[in-house]
Amino acid sequence: MSNQGINESESRESGVSRRNFIGKTMLAGAGIAASSMILGTMQNQADAQTKSSKPINAANKDFRKLGSLEVSPIGLGCMSMVAGFYNPAPPKSEMIRQIRTAVERGVTFFDTAEVYGPFASEEVVGEALEPFKGKVVIASKFGFNFENGRTIGRNSRPENIRRAVEGSLKRLRIEAVDLYYQHRADPNVPIEDVAGTVKELIQAGKIKHFGLSEMSPETIRKAHAVQKVSAVQSEYSLLERVLENGVIPVCEELGMGFVPWGPTARAYLADRFNEFSRFASEDRRASVSYFTPEAFKANLPLIALVREWALRKDVTPVQFSLGWLLAQKPFIVPIPGTTNPYHLKENLGAVDVKFTADELKEIRASLAQIKLEGVRSPESVLVNQ
Ligand SMILES: NC(=O)c1ccc[n+]([C@@H]2O[C@H](COP(=O)([O-])OP(=O)(O)OC[C@H]3O[C@@H](n4cnc5c(N)ncnc54)[C@H](OP(=O)(O)O)[C@@H]3O)[C@@H](O)[C@H]2O)c1
Repeated sequence: MSNQGINESESRESGVSRRNFIGKTMLAGAGIAASSMILGTMQNQADAQTKSSKPINAANKDFRKLGSLEVSPIGLGCMSMVAGFYNPAPPKSEMIRQIRTAVERGVTFFDTAEVYGPFASEEVVGEALEPFKGKVVIASKFGFNFENGRTIGRNSRPENIRRAVEGSLKRLRIEAVDLYYQHRADPNVPIEDVAGTVKELIQAGKIKHFGLSEMSPETIRKAHAVQKVSAVQSEYSLLERVLENGVIPVCEELGMGFVPWGPTARAYLADRFNEFSRFASEDRRASVSYFTPEAFKANLPLIALVREWALRKDVTPVQFSLGWLLAQKPFIVPIPGTTNPYHLKENLGAVDVKFTADELKEIRASLAQIKLEGVRSPESVLVNQ
């Protein structure tokens, strides 16, 4: 397994109407081991649907701002398009098609990282988006050390950031990375040095915007004092909400965007699993604390809430969950990751899910009644992950 460095940190415990949405059930049946044949067939069907209907640009109806960077309200996470996360590596050609289909559907924001693969996700993204250079925003991340194609730990020393950006530019086939995040804090390198190095790389024209991933409010403030931070990325969903008590208010105060990773809680909110689900050891969910049978059972009231609201809104559970995230703040841009063309279409449909102020209050009141297990502790928001 070549993602050790990131495993340690990232796997930390850590309008499509419901009636019309047949593909979702098909994939649920196929499970995480969906064969490339099934995926290919589904991709063809999804392509046919796209061609036979007028262009779907739902995703860019209302562009959102991450600092001064303008992006579609929903982006596409490209981590699981390579091996080492939730599924075996799907064929590269299908992932290129998936990314290009997202562009056709109005997505302008794509998320990858040096460590995904390592390097392989940036390669897929770079090849897929080459024809759209200048028309889309590519976000990537630095902050790890590699040896013989394996991730061997955190490293945000200035020389490693300079090495990383050269590699990212080459693999992404671009002249400047639109948004480059520090993926994880490096305890051996002060954040001011990281921000200072990124500042120099921005001045050199190699990076356009600076981002931070999984950092504390204090670290975000310190970095921003040296180099403007455009976006902060952390896990945030209906299930993982502790960042509301620290990081998201700081983003609002300082005019930064907030990019939730894990916006479907790694498909937990898709109503795709239950307390009897078991995951292969290569699937990160095997080590995520909210996927243990005990936590799953304890958190069933959340799934019930999601089901109830999906029915009320006549959308799918994932559409309700992503729509809820979009409704929290105008500077929030979720990046659901999917290798499946039907899921892509479903996820982008979330931009059409609207809530009244009273509905949002009602959902909040219900959430407050649910005691969650296997999620981050309230104090965790104050420390770098
Ligand atoms: N900054 C960080 O530290 C960090 C950490 C993790 C991830 N990320 C980024 O954030 C992105 C998203 O995070 P994530 O992938 O961990 O979590 P996620 O998007 O919540 O979940 C991805 C999982 O959900 C499934 N899924 C997506 N849409 C679905 C749908 N409509 N119905 C059923 N299942 C669905 C996907 O399977 P299918 O492929 O079958 O659709 C995949 O297994 C990643 O791609 C990556 O770019 C960043």
